[in-house]
Amino acid sequence: MSEPSAEALALATRHGLPVEMLYLREEYPRDRWAEPGLDQTAAFWLQMHGSFRGHQAHMDGLVSQWRAGGEIHVLHRQLIPALQSFLQHLDGHHRIESGQYFPMMRRIEPRIEHGIDLLDRDHDAIHGQLETLFQSGLAFHQAVASNAADAADKAARLGDALDAGAAPLLRHLEDEEDIVIPLIHLRGFQH
Ligand SMILES: [Fe+2]
Ligand SMILES: [Fe+2]
Repeated sequence: MSEPSAEALALATRHGLPVEMLYLREEYPRDRWAEPGLDQTAAFWLQMHGSFRGHQAHMDGLVSQWRAGGEIHVLHRQLIPALQSFLQHLDGHHRIESGQYFPMMRRIEPRIEHGIDLLDRDHDAIHGQLETLFQSGLAFHQAVASNAADAADKAARLGDALDAGAAPLLRHLEDEEDIVIPLIHLRGFQH
């Protein structure tokens, strides 16, 4: 079997992990993760990912309300704190994963090396998105704070950046779970 190309594995284009990175999930499939006895670290990981999905959906909802005729000051008051918290938590989560958990996983399960490489590359790609979101959020905040005429343009740009980031983030969360949840559960995990 030929190796999938880097392009096919890029976060922006892939539709899931290639089969050779899914052997852990085959051994411990998703439908069993909800059963009692899931490793606590794995359960916590799923909970964190759930909170990022919820956060993204919450911000998407705020933007939709504004696009449907909502007031820009309401959007500003609700979206800016939500965005700050999202950026901070997601950045912190990725730092811990790439800095601590992934190196441990490489040692515990050398066979998944290419999968961890892929997840690390995802983090780099998402980091670029977070930077764009931060800059767009700041521009929107400054425009509203100074009563600038282009505040709606800045809000629209931030909304577009949130739209653009959603699918890659959700793709990453799901693919990461397919590797790390069974790995932690099956192989054990030293803190
Ligand atoms: Fe991650
Ligand atoms: Fe994660």
